[in-house]
Amino acid sequence: MKRFVLSLAAVVLGVVTLSAQSITQEDKDRAKALVEKMTLEEKIDYIGGLNKFYIRGVERLGIPEIRMADGPQGVRNDTKSTLFACGVAAAATWNETAMKEMGTALGQDARARGVHIMLGPGVNIYRSPLCGRNFEYMGEDPYLASRAAVNYIKGIQAEGVMATIKHFAMNNQEYDRHHVSSDVDERTMNEIYFPSFRAAVEEAKVGAVMTSYNQVNGIHAAENPYLIRENLKGKWGFQGFVMSDWTSTYSTLGCIRGGLDLEMPMAYCMDRASVMALLENGVVEESEIDEKVQNILQALIAFGFLDRPQLDKNISEDNQYSNDIAYKLSCESAVLLKNEGVLPLKGATKKNQIVLMGPNADVIPCGGGSGRVDAIHTTSLAEGMKTLGKKYPTVLVDNYKSSVSAIEKAAAVIVSVGYDKTSERENSDRTFTLPEGQDEMIEFAAAHNKNVIVVIYAGGAVDMSRWQDKVAAIVMGWYPGQQGGLAIANILAGKVNPSGKLPMSFEKTLEDNPTYNSYYPAEPRSKRGFTYKFVTYTEGIFVGYRGYERKGIEPAYPFGYGLSYTTFEYAASNCIKSGDGYDVVFTVTNTGKRDGAEVSEIYVGEKNPCVARPAKELKGFAKTVIPAGKSAKVRVHLPKSAFEYYDVKSHEWVLNPGYFTVYIGSSSADIRLTEEVLM
Ligand code: BGC
Repeated sequence: MKRFVLSLAAVVLGVVTLSAQSITQEDKDRAKALVEKMTLEEKIDYIGGLNKFYIRGVERLGIPEIRMADGPQGVRNDTKSTLFACGVAAAATWNETAMKEMGTALGQDARARGVHIMLGPGVNIYRSPLCGRNFEYMGEDPYLASRAAVNYIKGIQAEGVMATIKHFAMNNQEYDRHHVSSDVDERTMNEIYFPSFRAAVEEAKVGAVMTSYNQVNGIHAAENPYLIRENLKGKWGFQGFVMSDWTSTYSTLGCIRGGLDLEMPMAYCMDRASVMALLENGVVEESEIDEKVQNILQALIAFGFLDRPQLDKNISEDNQYSNDIAYKLSCESAVLLKNEGVLPLKGATKKNQIVLMGPNADVIPCGGGSGRVDAIHTTSLAEGMKTLGKKYPTVLVDNYKSSVSAIEKAAAVIVSVGYDKTSERENSDRTFTLPEGQDEMIEFAAAHNKNVIVVIYAGGAVDMSRWQDKVAAIVMGWYPGQQGGLAIANILAGKVNPSGKLPMSFEKTLEDNPTYNSYYPAEPRSKRGFTYKFVTYTEGIFVGYRGYERKGIEPAYPFGYGLSYTTFEYAASNCIKSGDGYDVVFTVTNTGKRDGAEVSEIYVGEKNPCVARPAKELKGFAKTVIPAGKSAKVRVHLPKSAFEYYDVKSHEWVLNPGYFTVYIGSSSADIRLTEEVLM
């Protein structure tokens, strides 16, 4: 009963705070009145952060200090908290409800700690497996990343916590990130790199946007008027505030004119002396500073931060709801890549136990940098296996080379490999090959036992070429969060039927990746009197599966792929005119013996495009739980926008009227049904 009352209260509260997310004229007027009361010095100070993670308060005007915390997979900074599955894992669930619940739980964890602003989600598109922050982001597809971002933000913000979408924009690599310019053409920006930011602004009403470290076409993102003024605040109508990434500002005038509102973690460029000098010389006007203070205050007011305490003492720091959602996300995000009959585990005996080995067997790894979270408690895979009881006796070996007889006798060998906070992290890129010694370990196990199961913890694809054919099963666990070991143990034992699918393509070799020749910077060049390093995104819109399909390169595992312990059949598709687009309707039948959930993916391809377009692009999906032997009718709406492309002449999304193919599939490479529609 208590639980029911609490959730009812949460729903009611949710409605109240949700309506406060849009910035109203009243919020603007109230902010304006405050700006008018502030002295010039107070206003300049206000647009520079304080103590690494705060916006300063102005006590005499009743403006409280505002606390921020990273980040995408848990509340960081001076606290332990729930460690959720990482961003890319949330995308791998392909479950919009789960993505929103992650936001809700993060919002509750933030309220339990008095945090006003969460520095997430991160939505930079996955171009290559090398980017050290892929684990924080949401994969290679702009539609999937948009859905993940929108739901996650709605979840957080309904709890009365502001979300920050980051890093705007095109921070798709980590090496030398302060100095490299991402040189990208207009159509590619709009079709691939902007959609998740735009959806966050237009649909989820995100309160804050964080710029990136890199330059975009030669101008640093924090000072880039094309990004901030023309697109974000202009075309998309963003009314919240734009903050810099931590130490990503480079000039006072650039920050003022480019449209940045708040410099973090403190004023390096928009400091009192530098801003005063520009004001005194008449280069800058006071109204330009007022505009920034106004943007910050109107967002804080809209979120109620001036009117109520942020700390919610009714929520425990070790929140049961968050722990439950962390577990759900790990279960739904794991992707079964390969299974030659060894899974679910058949059980073992004391004589022929299950052997568990590898650097990630008895820890829960998490990516490093600002995305790292100190969990309150974790369940490693070793601990998860113990919860399975007597049927699955499991022995943890170190020193695997001296445990040969145990490996040879084992009913199955689980090798838990991957990266961790030191090898996959912000501020550096990672290798495509697994960290040293891990390939050898898997090969060793496979040479001595035919039932080897590899569990990988990583933010994206890894090189499997040395052992992919030699092992019996591969499970992609991402960074699965604090309950990850329990979830993966339950998947291995068949208590949970895997239902995650890849949010990126896994290439066979790095050379196959469409960005292989355009990932590292070319020779520095000069433009507008500056010499700068740059990466030209020569693959254009053909990122990920769009690129593999264009070049006819078969990946190791395609975008949208993931196995289940059951099988699904598709039938009876139809496209019915609905609104300005179509409803795609079809039936999915669970033809196996286990209950399961199937992600159905809807792609659209134009028959006679007037510009180069990908063969097909993801424009809708649905995850449906279907009991064994039962069927479900699935309906996915495709609005007109699902058929459009970005036209560089009009600078708008446009429809080229004509025929389109709608592909209904279980992955990008496993299309089960097609329909033709006229738009
Ligand atoms: C990261 C941001 C993060 C900030 C604060 C920066 O290094 O790029 O994503 O929010 O630090 O920790």
